[in-house]
Amino acid sequence: MPRILTGITPSGTLHIGNYFGAMRPAIELQAGGDAFYFIADYHSLTAVTDPVERRAYTQGIALDWLACGLDPAKAVFWRQSDVPQVCELTWLLGSLTPMGLLERAHSYKDKTAKGISPNFGLFAYPVLMAADILLYDTNVVPVGRDQKQHLEMTRDIAIKYNQTYGETFVVPEERIAEEVAVIPGLDGQKMSKSYGNTIEIFGDEKALRKKVMGIVMDSRTPQEPKPDAEKNLAIQLLKFVAPAEVAVDFENRLRAGGLGYGDLKKALFEHYWSCFAPYRAKRAELAASPDYVEQVLRDGAQRAHAVAEKTMARALKACGLR
Ligand code: ADP
Ligand code: TRP
Repeated sequence: MPRILTGITPSGTLHIGNYFGAMRPAIELQAGGDAFYFIADYHSLTAVTDPVERRAYTQGIALDWLACGLDPAKAVFWRQSDVPQVCELTWLLGSLTPMGLLERAHSYKDKTAKGISPNFGLFAYPVLMAADILLYDTNVVPVGRDQKQHLEMTRDIAIKYNQTYGETFVVPEERIAEEVAVIPGLDGQKMSKSYGNTIEIFGDEKALRKKVMGIVMDSRTPQEPKPDAEKNLAIQLLKFVAPAEVAVDFENRLRAGGLGYGDLKKALFEHYWSCFAPYRAKRAELAASPDYVEQVLRDGAQRAHAVAEKTMARALKACGLR
């Protein structure tokens, strides 16, 4: 059975891009595989410096995953930092990772171009991510397209280690569902916690309605036919949250003319809100049982640790540290 692994960084509140791009595919895979899902809290250190905030995001993400269908009976679910061997492995891998490889990382270049001041953690981020994946003998990593390069780097690093010290790591494969590869945000760019253009999975109804109704459209009148209807942001988002035939119907009405943008955005909000309604109820239930959630994460860490220990022993022996 292939081992499937993915992680999400607790650096903000999760949005529907995270859900459709990473969580839903992972949850769908949990039944048929050997699933390992974690909250990447070490990764959050480069983005969040308030400890209270970090804990709140971590707790929030645990609730989000469990509410959206992660089943702890099927998947191992843990906090990255509860298995600190991942940092030890980062060092072994980093010592073989060429500077040039890291210098080419899009995520690093994008972040520094946006004015985030670079530090060692940000630069070494793909090495920690490689350690996340290799520590658990992962075969398949379901992620959004933005992570493709990180997966290629992980493969390069694994191959380099295996060539240098002998067969040690499983070389993983990415799994990118093309139809959900990039969910656009409220401004049409990739939806991302760091761009302030998100529709959260969970949140206050009034504030979220306001966000959706605030999507900026062009100035064409409702009556005008819109031959480019498929490019409309609300139509694109509707395709994720509404049944296919509903989205097609709205697209056709927009194309023909006669559908106003206000009505379209209202429909988008209503479908989005009802799409997540069952998960909202489950999340409220879980939020009332913090001890249960903590226990799930601790059990998960124990199971993750058992695998990590074996891989780490292999990696240390291979390079001559044991
Ligand atoms: P963010 O960009 O909001 O910080 P993360 O980098 O934490 O999101 O991403 C967590 C997971 O969600 C990754 O697998 C990533 O590929 C996926 N993801 C994030 N944003 C999107 C998006 N807009 N469309 C599809 N997948 C996404
Ligand atoms: N870097 C990923 C992101 O920002 C999160 C992540 C960290 C991850 N480690 C991982 C995803 C390992 C998949 C596998 O989205």
